[in-house]
Amino acid sequence: MKPNISTTIGTVELRSCIYNASGPLCATKEELNNIGKSKAGAIISKSSTEQYREGNPKPRYFENELGSINSMGLPNMGLDFYLNTSEELIQYEKPFFLSIAGLSLEENKKMLSKVVDNEFVSGVELNLSCPNVLGKPQTAYDFERTKFVLDDVCKIKDRCFGVKLPPYFDLIHFEQMAEILNQYPLDFITCINSIGNGIIVDIEKEEVVIHPKGGFGGIGGDYIKPTALANVRKFRQLLKNEISVIGCGGIKNGSDVFEHILCGASAVQVGTQLMREGVSCFERIENELIELMKLKDYLDINTYKGKLGVVNSM
Ligand SMILES: Cc1cc2nc3c(=O)[nH]c(=O)nc-3n(C[C@H](O)[C@H](O)[C@H](O)COP(=O)(O)O)c2cc1C
Repeated sequence: MKPNISTTIGTVELRSCIYNASGPLCATKEELNNIGKSKAGAIISKSSTEQYREGNPKPRYFENELGSINSMGLPNMGLDFYLNTSEELIQYEKPFFLSIAGLSLEENKKMLSKVVDNEFVSGVELNLSCPNVLGKPQTAYDFERTKFVLDDVCKIKDRCFGVKLPPYFDLIHFEQMAEILNQYPLDFITCINSIGNGIIVDIEKEEVVIHPKGGFGGIGGDYIKPTALANVRKFRQLLKNEISVIGCGGIKNGSDVFEHILCGASAVQVGTQLMREGVSCFERIENELIELMKLKDYLDINTYKGKLGVVNSM
């Protein structure tokens, strides 16, 4: 029997638990259609602001064998474009998630109110963790502010709704954030966004590899997988069952997906590897996951989800 890799987020059903991360190759009509045609289990848009944004000056993305650095500055087509495109995407018979990243709470509320009239968007991922907009802190590193934002936006929630979080590194911070998240009717969290404000150095030129913000940018890929797994694991342990955890960070093959699910992910998103390989990555990663599950005699992702073993030393 072929292992089942379908999953459910809130009330939204995905044929495959593997899809794209917001950002890479999901900003234009052509890119969104390409994800639709691929084996991705869902489509998520580039984080949208209310208006079109050009983003930061180039070069603003760089990758090497270990991962990526970016300081895109939220280049996107603006909310109306993504809402208008949503109808075209239903032909692919897979969920379409809209990522939004308003530059203020008012902007986020305005955008969410517009989504209420749209019947083709399956769910909304509110990005509380963009590290690359000059002068704008990452909301989810300010716990009071996060609560304030969730108080307001959850009043408008009318469909599957979740938040994209930055990585946390301190066990107390996980507990503080989980306590806040558990107070709201969230369907999911996605963790993690890029590790903010790293630097990659070009040794030959003795220079930074991207130009905005003096070379500081969000890190993705292999560099961040252990941090992503720890965030998935900790939040799965601390959050109420109604909130699914979507894993993101360092996924490039089937074993990476397996690790995220073992840590508690209900679905996973692919960022840097999608940039590298294009949409064919979804079929390859899906096949690798299925082969690994066959080898381990798992017929369903739910049989091993969150079952990561620990060894007690004392
Ligand atoms: C070029 C690029 C653009 C990104 N833009 C967004 C974005 O608009 N919204 C968002 O939530 N995350 C964005 N991210 C972060 C990714 O969604 C993802 O969280 C991060 O890259 C970690 O996953 P990875 O290790 O698979 O790359 C972006 C990442 C990259 C590389």
